[in-house]
Amino acid sequence: MGFLTVDHDKCKRDRVCAAECPMKLITFKEPDSFPGSVKGAEEICVSCGHCVAVCPNKAISVSTVNTVECLPINPDLLPKPEQVEHFLKSRRSIRSFKNKTVDRTILAKLIDIASYAPSGHNIQPVHWLVIEDKNEVHRIAGLVVDWTHYMIENMPEYAALMHLEAICSAWDQGSDRICRDAPHIIIAHAPEDLSMSQGSCTIALSYLELAAYSMGIGACWAGYVGAAAGLYPPLIQELALPEGHKAFGAMMIGHPKYRYHKIPPRTAPRIIWR
Ligand SMILES: Cc1cc2nc3c(=O)[nH]c(=O)nc-3n(C[C@H](O)[C@H](O)[C@H](O)COP(=O)(O)O)c2cc1C
Repeated sequence: MGFLTVDHDKCKRDRVCAAECPMKLITFKEPDSFPGSVKGAEEICVSCGHCVAVCPNKAISVSTVNTVECLPINPDLLPKPEQVEHFLKSRRSIRSFKNKTVDRTILAKLIDIASYAPSGHNIQPVHWLVIEDKNEVHRIAGLVVDWTHYMIENMPEYAALMHLEAICSAWDQGSDRICRDAPHIIIAHAPEDLSMSQGSCTIALSYLELAAYSMGIGACWAGYVGAAAGLYPPLIQELALPEGHKAFGAMMIGHPKYRYHKIPPRTAPRIIWR
């Protein structure tokens, strides 16, 4: 089978597939011919699936995308704009968790949804490390505290900016302000030398945070873990990520202890219109 297969009985030659291919791999020999592909298309294709997904006639398939896995969009399941607005504005960082674990099926579902986040060239560089064991979460928080001691000593300005002294003294008094006693943390990691890794991990974690909120699961960026996990050798060793990978962000996950009743205001958008 070649790169592009077109069902001539179904194809209406509307050229939508060609218009939507980001790499411009679909061409036409004559003005009214069926779609064809450029030389070497298979190697250039980013497997985004847009050509298959945008065709209203189910007429096209490409060797780089599993057409069977292209699920239909159900308009009834799409939220209305006011629902999206309310959902996004009412999401909160959750820092108090019930002493109860989140089912692995739910954690896996969150990660599955997060894998639909955009990534440059659809390269999908994000991998996941799920710390399911609360004791291990606490151990990681302890290593981050060790890192904060190092930072206070060696980079006092950064330490002041990040309120690291307060984090340390809270820890000494038995209060975990690193992982907030969350039962789990989810770490997004990716190849260190890839320019898209940081952005892709950040966006994927943002998807994950929103997906968690939609399921009644609490989430909060674990910024100190994210920072230390990319820098502090003992923590890097503890995480034991695959060779060449770096942690680009971490999220605390658990069942929220409290429910929010209001949406606190945010600074009005600062926009330059041109
Ligand atoms: C990159 C990033 C890192 C963060 N790190 C932490 C953190 O380490 N601990 C924490 O409690 N909250 C952390 N937060 C959550 C922010 O404090 C929170 O988003 C902000 O206060 C606004 O509250 P909201 O998310 O409920 O709107 C982080 C948020 C971001 C985006």
